[in-house]
Amino acid sequence: QSFFKPIHGASPPPTTSRNTKISVIGVGNVGMAIAQTILTQHLADEIALVDVNADKLRGEMLDLQHAAAFLPRTTISSSVDYSVTGDSDLVIVTAGARQIPGESRLNLLQRNLALFSKIIPPLSARSPDAILLIVSNPVDVLTYVAWKLSGFPANRVIGSGTNLDSSRFRFLIADHLNVNAQDVQAYIMGEHGDSSVALWSSISVGGVPILSFLERQQIAYEKQTLENIHKEVIQGAYEVIGLKGYTSWAIGYSVANLARSILRDQHRVHPVSVLAKGLYGIDGDDVFLSLPTQLGRSGVLGVTNLNLSDEESQRLQKSALTILEVQRQLGI
Ligand code: NAI
Ligand code: 2OP
Repeated sequence: QSFFKPIHGASPPPTTSRNTKISVIGVGNVGMAIAQTILTQHLADEIALVDVNADKLRGEMLDLQHAAAFLPRTTISSSVDYSVTGDSDLVIVTAGARQIPGESRLNLLQRNLALFSKIIPPLSARSPDAILLIVSNPVDVLTYVAWKLSGFPANRVIGSGTNLDSSRFRFLIADHLNVNAQDVQAYIMGEHGDSSVALWSSISVGGVPILSFLERQQIAYEKQTLENIHKEVIQGAYEVIGLKGYTSWAIGYSVANLARSILRDQHRVHPVSVLAKGLYGIDGDDVFLSLPTQLGRSGVLGVTNLNLSDEESQRLQKSALTILEVQRQLGI
């Protein structure tokens, strides 16, 4: 029985239209920041939450549902059972251990590897056409692991990568130049972590290439100043973790930004972790790291062909080696 009466001559609802469904695995700080950003931006008609901690999971679901009167209409469900994720369009994985103050992301690998071998197979079986978006750390290696365990084509397995580091970078440059971060085009590539690579040669502000602008204006800049900004990007997460114990808001917005580009088929370019083999001189073993990537409804549409300086290119290859050294210990 419906609350509303049908009007005379109304046609039955279309049977072809399909809801957009996002699953978020792990309802810790990061999973919940992502879920709430997705909700407020109305990126999905359905959100399914999964965690091993049943009480926390139900508590988080209810707390979000209680905001229904203030939000676009979205169905929120949750379960410790992966069947709740069935037929998702996008599966976002945030489950796992996080760093304690001072600990590196790569140090989390063994703990989160064991967990991925339990969660990726049921996820991929229940949503065989989904795009997997990995956030748990170390994100580049775990994106490779998710690719292997899911058997999905590489265009449908993406790591959130340096979309977050690039946002930190754009914020710091914007702050330095007193401009809006949205007008700063700047990329961090490579590992989401300590060996990331700042692309100084391609930064522009409002369409003005920054290094040639400084040279033309004969404004002296110290290479060290640039290096310090990149160091601040790398230290950013350590500083936040040292102060509040974890990072959450920026990764929430960063992942919602990726979800929008994917589900709304935006064809926007984001630095995210993708299978980099054969690109930018990265040959040999399969490795996932961040490259400026065009995203759409089928996941990775392509990777931008940027002109890197020799130094940037070398640093990128070194970053690939750093990830590969850790990956080779996995034996998968
Ligand atoms: P948290 O400890 O708050 O949450 C982790 C959640 O995972 C917990 O609720 C826990 O119950 C759940 N979990 C553990 N095993 C599970 C399983 N088998 N199935 C389902 N859920 C399970 O941690 P937080 O702060 O949310 O961080 C999560 C991950 O995200 C960490 O690995 C962290 O390093 C990473 N991270 C990645 C970022 C990125 O830019 N890629 C940014 C920030 C954090
Ligand atoms: C971040 O960069 C810790 O990877 C996490 O915020």
